[in-house]
Amino acid sequence: MASGLAPLESAVLDAVTAAGGEAVASTDVAASQGVPHSVLVDTALKTLSAREALTLTPVSHEAWVLTAEGATYAAAGSPEAQLVRHLAAATGGQSLPNVDAALGAGVRKIGMQQAMRLGWVVMDRPTKTLALGAGLSADALPTDDVAAALNTLRDGGGDAAAAAATGVDEATRKALQKRKLATPKTTKTFAITPGARIADARRPQATELSREMLDSGSWRGAAFKPYNFAAKGKDVAGGHLHTLLKVREQFRLIFLEMGFSEMDSARYVESSFWNFDALFQPQQHPARDEHDTFFLSSPATATLPEGAGDYVARVKAAHCGGEAGAAVTGGSRGYRYAWSAAEARKNILRTHTTAVTARMLQRLAADTASAGGVFTPAKMFSIDRVFRNETLDATHLAEFHQIEGMVADHNLSLGHLKGVIHTFFKKMGMDRLRFKPTHNPYTEPSLEVHAFHAGLNKWVEVGNSGMFRPEMLLPMGLPPDVRVIAWGLSLERPTMIKYGVQNIRDLFGHKIDLEAIQRNPICRITF
Ligand code: PHE
Repeated sequence: MASGLAPLESAVLDAVTAAGGEAVASTDVAASQGVPHSVLVDTALKTLSAREALTLTPVSHEAWVLTAEGATYAAAGSPEAQLVRHLAAATGGQSLPNVDAALGAGVRKIGMQQAMRLGWVVMDRPTKTLALGAGLSADALPTDDVAAALNTLRDGGGDAAAAAATGVDEATRKALQKRKLATPKTTKTFAITPGARIADARRPQATELSREMLDSGSWRGAAFKPYNFAAKGKDVAGGHLHTLLKVREQFRLIFLEMGFSEMDSARYVESSFWNFDALFQPQQHPARDEHDTFFLSSPATATLPEGAGDYVARVKAAHCGGEAGAAVTGGSRGYRYAWSAAEARKNILRTHTTAVTARMLQRLAADTASAGGVFTPAKMFSIDRVFRNETLDATHLAEFHQIEGMVADHNLSLGHLKGVIHTFFKKMGMDRLRFKPTHNPYTEPSLEVHAFHAGLNKWVEVGNSGMFRPEMLLPMGLPPDVRVIAWGLSLERPTMIKYGVQNIRDLFGHKIDLEAIQRNPICRITF
């Protein structure tokens, strides 16, 4: 329910009711309440007319207001009158500097101009002295009509009709205007009459239609507060990007600038085949253990890409080695174990986005086959979520994001890999890089990427990289001279460094502070 009426609102309603249908002038109400007209309009008339309690009919008035100069003359007399009064009080002709000293040069000049025109003052040219005009003396001074008119206008509140009645006629007002002593000003007031809903005005206004009002039927007689469609809405507080999404966008832009296209990575559940086997990762590799990887119970298995040529058989041969394997891989000995299709079919939550890369490379190989063996080079990237059965601590979560880039072309070398990685990390503000040999089942050689962080004043590991092994690429059917260089890094690590986040659980997961997301800067330029 709306609160009661403001005192000024009550006063206006009282005045309108008392007038019994006659229009009430808003100026009268303002005067009787002792408030400026504008206050009455802003605090009472607007609200009551919006509620249709009052009808306001605008009335324009031409009023006259004194300028600052006009106001001083109203008080001190017009310059011409001041001049004659000064001369009447003095004995003999007065020199100009003499008059200036008494009246000020400004008043003297204007006064001289007007008074000489009127014949009130004469000047003796040879001596440059001023004296009263013919017939004037201290006992017979002209009346100061200008000051009188100015005072009449001021006292009458500028009202033209009232001024005319007391002798400030149109011609006089125009003359004052010409001398810039008074100016006409149009003011707007209102004639106030009762509105259609004046009867409701004193009743509290309902701001909402409640269930109780519907049940009791009281809504029928209720006065409802009208909607204020001009009200400013509340600031929308939603729609803030999470820190990781902001940094993801920066990485995405870096890849796009470098001419990479984004891979479809919308597949969290992956078969072991694409996550491991296609990457030449042996089935007894510890990473494939449930201590490291989440296995799905339902659906527990996936189908293998049997339809795609004899790809699965070639992967199996590469793992098993022997003559069949060497034929596929160009001489690799393989791992020499019995590869199991059942193991490859197990569904898992993907442990790296390299599974996405593997699918994409196999598709490029298939495209090459359908293009009659013509391979089209490709530069691709993905930034998406991966899952590992990690022990959670300040820097590890069971799910995080990987950024992965890949370039496939004829005869790429380790030099290309280092060059691309330099360009990539330089765009993030890291230009001091070091490479350190490492091992991945699917790359050879494999290089860890370390960057010097000026802010932290130390070397930090920023990624992992390598050239995909022939045991991975040849079973797919890629031409033997096609090399694929690739690198990967987590999204969380550079985000934590950029935003100074110490604990990864403050960045991602159910414990994060939503307000921090709203307050975070849109972007951080440096690494
Ligand atoms: N897949 C690797 C990881 O999980 C990153 C990587 C991608 C390494 C591509 C080499 C090539 O860290």
